[in-house]
Amino acid sequence: MKVLFVGDVVGSIGRKMLFETLPLLKSNYRPQLTIVNGENAAAGRGMTEKIYKEFLQAGVDLITMGNHTWDNRDIFEFIGDERIKMIRPANFPDGTPGIGYKIIQINQSKIAVINLQGRVFLNDLDDPFRKIDEILEEIPKDVLCIFVDFHAEVTSEKQAMAWYLDGRVSAVVGTHTHVQTNDARILPSGTAYLTDAGMTGAYDSILGVETNIIINRFLTQMPVRHQIPEEGRKLLSGCYIEIDDKTGKATKIEPIMVNDDRPFKE
Ligand SMILES: [Fe+2]
Ligand SMILES: [Fe+2]
Repeated sequence: MKVLFVGDVVGSIGRKMLFETLPLLKSNYRPQLTIVNGENAAAGRGMTEKIYKEFLQAGVDLITMGNHTWDNRDIFEFIGDERIKMIRPANFPDGTPGIGYKIIQINQSKIAVINLQGRVFLNDLDDPFRKIDEILEEIPKDVLCIFVDFHAEVTSEKQAMAWYLDGRVSAVVGTHTHVQTNDARILPSGTAYLTDAGMTGAYDSILGVETNIIINRFLTQMPVRHQIPEEGRKLLSGCYIEIDDKTGKATKIEPIMVNDDRPFKE
């Protein structure tokens, strides 16, 4: 199973970069499944139905979310659709709209994609460690490939999740910090791991947001309204993973970063 993952797409500039770069990545990696984190796709805040459809049209198979899931109220119009190709953190409280994981059939193989959110410096959700145990019990035994997007702030929590799941899932890829880490590896029992995939959006920005706004926030300690650059240099971050369909173990993880300093090369 070949999986392409793209980290948090931020605003219209991020969407533009995704739509421009995805065809190149697809022809290079030939993924069977393309997963994109879309929690910041609508002007940095959540997802709209229009953008959701654009993502699918561009060749995204499944969208993962995070702490910004509810920022745009448009999501309530379509998240309840039973064919939804979007998952939100599974450890949101019971009764929350949407689904936390999805099983997808690709040729003879099945892959489960799970979205979880960390609790350190983020909302006080249900325990993601207990939740993933529950989900792994629920998933039918013939589903060997399992991909986890762990949306979390703190590296220790992400590493703990990866080691907790080593040998039980195929990959744990972090999102949320918007900066790609340089630690892609396969853990001893076969789980691919990357602390954070990074973000897709304005390259000349602070985590995707106009630099002046964030600098002013630090200088004044006043609340600010985030603005996302619409023009300028762009960045795409993510990773590519190969999983052995017969064992569910990862055989390869490769970080992907495309920007003006690192243009795409086949
Ligand atoms: Fe994000
Ligand atoms: Fe986030």
